[in-house]
Amino acid sequence: MNLTHLSPYTFGCMSLGMNVEQGRIAEDVAVARQAMDAGIWFHCSPTYSRGFCFMILRMAFDQNRSKVPPLIVKVRDASPEFMRFEVEDSCRRLGVEAIDIAQLVSMDREPGNLIDQLQGGGPIADELACLRERGLIKQAVLFVDKQNSDAGLAAQSSNLVEGLTCYWNASQRELSDAAWAEVQAKDIPVIAIRTLAGATEKHPHPDCGDEVEFALRLRASFPAVRSSIGGTRNPLHLKRFLECAETSPLPKSVLKKINWQ
Ligand SMILES: NC(=O)c1ccc[n+]([C@@H]2O[C@H](COP(=O)([O-])OP(=O)(O)OC[C@H]3O[C@@H](n4cnc5c(N)ncnc54)[C@H](OP(=O)(O)O)[C@@H]3O)[C@@H](O)[C@H]2O)c1
Repeated sequence: MNLTHLSPYTFGCMSLGMNVEQGRIAEDVAVARQAMDAGIWFHCSPTYSRGFCFMILRMAFDQNRSKVPPLIVKVRDASPEFMRFEVEDSCRRLGVEAIDIAQLVSMDREPGNLIDQLQGGGPIADELACLRERGLIKQAVLFVDKQNSDAGLAAQSSNLVEGLTCYWNASQRELSDAAWAEVQAKDIPVIAIRTLAGATEKHPHPDCGDEVEFALRLRASFPAVRSSIGGTRNPLHLKRFLECAETSPLPKSVLKKINWQ
């Protein structure tokens, strides 16, 4: 099993580049540089901020190529051509030789999609094998939700995929109960998305730290959850994520109360 080398907190880049047309560029580049200096993983997508997220990242990377971070990049995969374009285009625009972890979104929900092909074979799975062979994708995870997590888990045993990724935080767990039990029992790597569930809810355990600390302690409570992706473009919020990244698990009594034991 791989994916052991992730940072416990991954910098989510979804809001970078959101206001470039209003002139907000230097501030977003500075936040990306702050995360690069911390040596943590980044998560990004060619679609974020209509593509301007990649512009901000490229500017930050070009300011210090020695600190280009390991990247999780969302890859759309409805057809072999789409997947190949998305991977080659992301590498070219970001100025990197490879995607460290491709987040395969299995966007086509019809039978015969990537998840099915990882077990039965087919042209999209062949293209994934080819992109890995070419060294453009080093590792891959499957994006799942409650509806397809059982199928995703079965497909995850393919040697083309190292783990799963899904919305996972104190108020969301997009894995079926059976899939969550198997993930823990077999230590199948999961990358959690949305550390703070959008920062809209307060947690009810003030003795376990603020929202950020609580969320990252929840991640630390489950070794199969290798990293949690939290988004910000506020330097103080990023600082808080970084301060809480290496933390202790929540007490068992609290996990029981929130029904997460
Ligand atoms: N399907 C997918 O693959 C998918 C979907 C959604 C997200 N993602 C990835 O996951 C990342 C995180 O998702 P997310 O942004 O939806 O959720 P999140 O990380 O749970 O929450 C981020 C929100 O919380 C705010 N925030 C951060 N730190 C805070 C703090 N200390 N105090 C108060 N507010 C704080 C941020 O605003 P500020 O900017 O003001 O800090 C932002 O609005 C994204 O950046 C993206 O990389 C992937």
